[in-house]
Amino acid sequence: MADTLGMDPARIERLRSPERLEYFHPDRIWEVLKPAPDCTLIDIGSGVGFLTLPFADRYPQSKAYGCDILEGMVGLLREDAAERGLGNLETVLMQPNSVNLPDDTADFIVMGQLHHELDVPEPLMSECKRLLKPGGTIAIIDWADADNGKSPPVGRRVPVADMQAQLEDAGFGDIQTHDVYEFHTFMTGVA
Ligand SMILES: C[S@@+](CC[C@H](N)C(=O)[O-])C[C@H]1O[C@@H](n2cnc3c(N)ncnc32)[C@H](O)[C@@H]1O
Repeated sequence: MADTLGMDPARIERLRSPERLEYFHPDRIWEVLKPAPDCTLIDIGSGVGFLTLPFADRYPQSKAYGCDILEGMVGLLREDAAERGLGNLETVLMQPNSVNLPDDTADFIVMGQLHHELDVPEPLMSECKRLLKPGGTIAIIDWADADNGKSPPVGRRVPVADMQAQLEDAGFGDIQTHDVYEFHTFMTGVA
């Protein structure tokens, strides 16, 4: 899928903006997922690492993969991880529905503010199922389907029912939503 926003410097600045922490703090995700310290996490659509960097920093015994379709994003994340001395963070330049990692790699997959950018999410959901160990958890956090002053307009946001159906179709179970963020839907499913 084409990423029409690409590596626009204003976009990079937005993704790195500390203001995001006020309403989308990554710690809230780990409080729900409760990862074991030595777990493996894959961040799909990692961008410059808004989720991956704090995860790798907080869980130094873990393995974190930051995956994105844009070489520029992956490059910036790799540089930042090296500067911070995060040897447990690896970057992967992925194809739109394909990550070059083995089956059953991860305990957790996170997708932050990616879902609304996917034209056809189903193939990526199936790829996530392949990448997760049996019993592993996918966490999709995306703009809520509501007029809340932050979410994109109708048509560019994903209804909860659609997200749930896509996870079910890909074979995920125990699907739950978590009332954690004011402006985001937070949904988990178990592989
Ligand atoms: C809005 S940004 C969010 C980045 C990061 N998760 C965050 O919260 O800061 C969406 C990212 O997903 C990437 N992306 C878009 N389509 C993708 C796809 N099909 N597979 C993987 N990444 C994708 C974009 O290149 C971009 O870096």
